[in-house]
Amino acid sequence: MKPVKIGVLGLGTVGGGTVNVLRRNADEIARRAGREIQVVRAFARDLNRSRICDTTGIGLTDDPYSIVNDPEIEIVAELIGGTGIARDLVLKALDNGKHVVTANKALIALHGNEIFAKARAQGLMVAFEAAVAGGIPIIKAVREGLAGNTIEWVAGIINGTCNYILTEMWEKGRDFPDVLQEAQALGYAEADPTFDVEGIDAAHKLTILASIAFGIPLQFDKVYIEGISGITRLDVAYAQALGYRIKLLGIARRTPAGVELRVHPTLIPERRLIANVNGVMNAVLVKGDAVGPTLFYGAGADPTGSSVVADLVDVVRMLTSDPDNRVPHLAFQPGSIADIPVLPASEMQTAYYLRLSAEDKPGVLADVTRILADHRISIEAIIQKEALADESHLPVILLTHKLKEKELNEALARIEALSTINGPVKRIRVETLG
Ligand code: HSE
Repeated sequence: MKPVKIGVLGLGTVGGGTVNVLRRNADEIARRAGREIQVVRAFARDLNRSRICDTTGIGLTDDPYSIVNDPEIEIVAELIGGTGIARDLVLKALDNGKHVVTANKALIALHGNEIFAKARAQGLMVAFEAAVAGGIPIIKAVREGLAGNTIEWVAGIINGTCNYILTEMWEKGRDFPDVLQEAQALGYAEADPTFDVEGIDAAHKLTILASIAFGIPLQFDKVYIEGISGITRLDVAYAQALGYRIKLLGIARRTPAGVELRVHPTLIPERRLIANVNGVMNAVLVKGDAVGPTLFYGAGADPTGSSVVADLVDVVRMLTSDPDNRVPHLAFQPGSIADIPVLPASEMQTAYYLRLSAEDKPGVLADVTRILADHRISIEAIIQKEALADESHLPVILLTHKLKEKELNEALARIEALSTINGPVKRIRVETLG
């Protein structure tokens, strides 16, 4: 059979990695796909830059439109990233009847509904395994491997940069800004590291996971997002003293009232496997009603080419199949996507870690616990640290039971108004993931 001709847009870490995998494993890949997969053309912004891949035999161009308009190319791999030119190129490729493979999480999270609608109308495939958790085949696992389950919740460490920073803070007692600089130098962070540390990158990935887990539309704008820039090494140390680790989690949970979609720093009991996923690694915990909890672990960034190539193989295998009988883009049949309400943050239910700075005199803690009791908030654990030599206030750390955020807000407003409490109360959500 004739080789399938591919055009690659972007020859950076993901694009270059994809070309490398295709070359290295060409025979194995052809045995699986049934045909040779040949990269015939590739777009790079700067044609003279040195590359991580061998481009021999690939027609390089600095005009990406010449690839999406090339009649010879059957599949376009969009590995540029971002939502500007990438969106335009993907839509143009679909207009021109080409299948698309992409690693672009922001593009799918923000414009996926539009892209999939166009792909369906054209009878084309858009594959995006590489958009979530890099090399971990989590899209396929949830969309196909767990297709018999009602998915109850998904919780993932889906940003390697944040996981690296939090691990360094925990293991070595380092400060946030110092580790962030190192993560950037190591190439883990996005071009704009705000996307990583403020939880936006994780929210893009969570949007996609939630959609394929629950059969809901992609709705990034409804995700509650809180990053890790406010986490101090003191919080990491106090969490450890209570038997917890702090991780940035993306959580999607089905509740009787609606779906919770949230990204935030989270205390997780250290006995959980996912609490021990360290460094730049990713992991996704999926709870299905039939299977129970399943944990998927692997590297989130560097091996993304592995996922791009898996998608290319999938697309090649399905080239001649009837479009109506392919696996639906978002796991559920398009006519069965359900508009389940997404809960606002005030209605989300979690337990909390609270850190207060309290004046060192009798009765202060009693005032705090009385207010919590007035609001029927029970305390699971409490630690009080000694004040530093020259300080009049001491840190008090409380763990609450599970409650709605709006109930906590009311109690905290009263606690923060006490003259004996210094500044705002620091709060971090707690999940047992049991
Ligand atoms: N900046 C991302 C991360 C890369 O740190 O996880 C992979 O999407």
